[in-house]
Amino acid sequence: MTDLDTFIAGLPKAELHLHIEGSLEPEQMFEFARRNAIEIPFKSVEEVRAAYEFSNLQDFLDIYYAGASVLQTEQDFRDMAMAYFDRAAADGVVHAEIFFDPQTHTDRGIPFGVVANGLLQGMADAEAKHGLTSKLILCFLRHLDEEAAFKTLNQAQPWIDQIAGVGLDSSEVGHPPSKFERVFAAAGAMGLKRVVHAGEEGPPEYVKEALDLLHIDRLDHGNRSLEDPDLVARLARSAMTLTVCPLSNVKLCNVESIDTHPIDRMLELGLRATVNSDDPAYFGGYVGDNYRAIAGGRGLSRTQLVTLARNSFLGSFLPDEDVARHLATLDAYAEAHA
Ligand code: ADE
Ligand code: ZN
Repeated sequence: MTDLDTFIAGLPKAELHLHIEGSLEPEQMFEFARRNAIEIPFKSVEEVRAAYEFSNLQDFLDIYYAGASVLQTEQDFRDMAMAYFDRAAADGVVHAEIFFDPQTHTDRGIPFGVVANGLLQGMADAEAKHGLTSKLILCFLRHLDEEAAFKTLNQAQPWIDQIAGVGLDSSEVGHPPSKFERVFAAAGAMGLKRVVHAGEEGPPEYVKEALDLLHIDRLDHGNRSLEDPDLVARLARSAMTLTVCPLSNVKLCNVESIDTHPIDRMLELGLRATVNSDDPAYFGGYVGDNYRAIAGGRGLSRTQLVTLARNSFLGSFLPDEDVARHLATLDAYAEAHA
């Protein structure tokens, strides 16, 4: 480990863009397939990993939804979440706001409660074991229709006090935020936070729809906002948090290479950018790997890395007093390691 690697590992941080189903490592996929007697179209862990070559978002989504089929029981969801939290804790994550895709499971006959209870158990276990706090964000699959999203929001009602917000993910192009205007209005009326994947592959107009029609509290990815200077100015002015996912952007061919990633340009433009892993089992690394990749690829200074970690707490849905406590710890760390 270099000095910078050690600095990054110890840097207190929050992770704000993590699909828990995207943390399912091939080893665990085989373990769950075996214990649930599910057939998967791979013979070995190596064969699974070799299949993780994507040229766009849809390539990835096809294999990601197939992989989720091994998740059957509360124990599976709990164990998957715990494996993520163990790795996150080792990366200096003290708080995580995790996405889950209930429709991926309910559409295969897994009850909503099996998914929610398993994840909530993993979250409680992670807090007990690591002191790592977390929040749950329910994502609607945007390739499905509004009615299906409403049905999912209804199914979530018994757990609604344990869900911090709603999100929108899956195939972006052709499924603009406007498609879910009424669903997000209903979620907002329930007091839920609202986040949306926009500007990952979709145009800046989708980001504007997320702001104007879905009234987002945070923007997931947002990279293509950079094509529209007025939009950048608006995002900067409103201190909108962007949950940027560098290794994901490379793996899904949304940026050419880590060396040309715009993370430092985002900071220079005054955007509240954060660093996250998205789907770490599929994209070659957890949040620590993302910080190391971007630090190396863009030659980021310690000050810039501290800014990214600071943004992760400022952009979280934690109460102000918790944010202040985490920022004080971060400042003390930065001072001790200047
Ligand atoms: N679901 C899981 N990861 C995703 C991503 N990066 N974009 C859209 N939907 C997703
Ligand atoms: Zn994502």
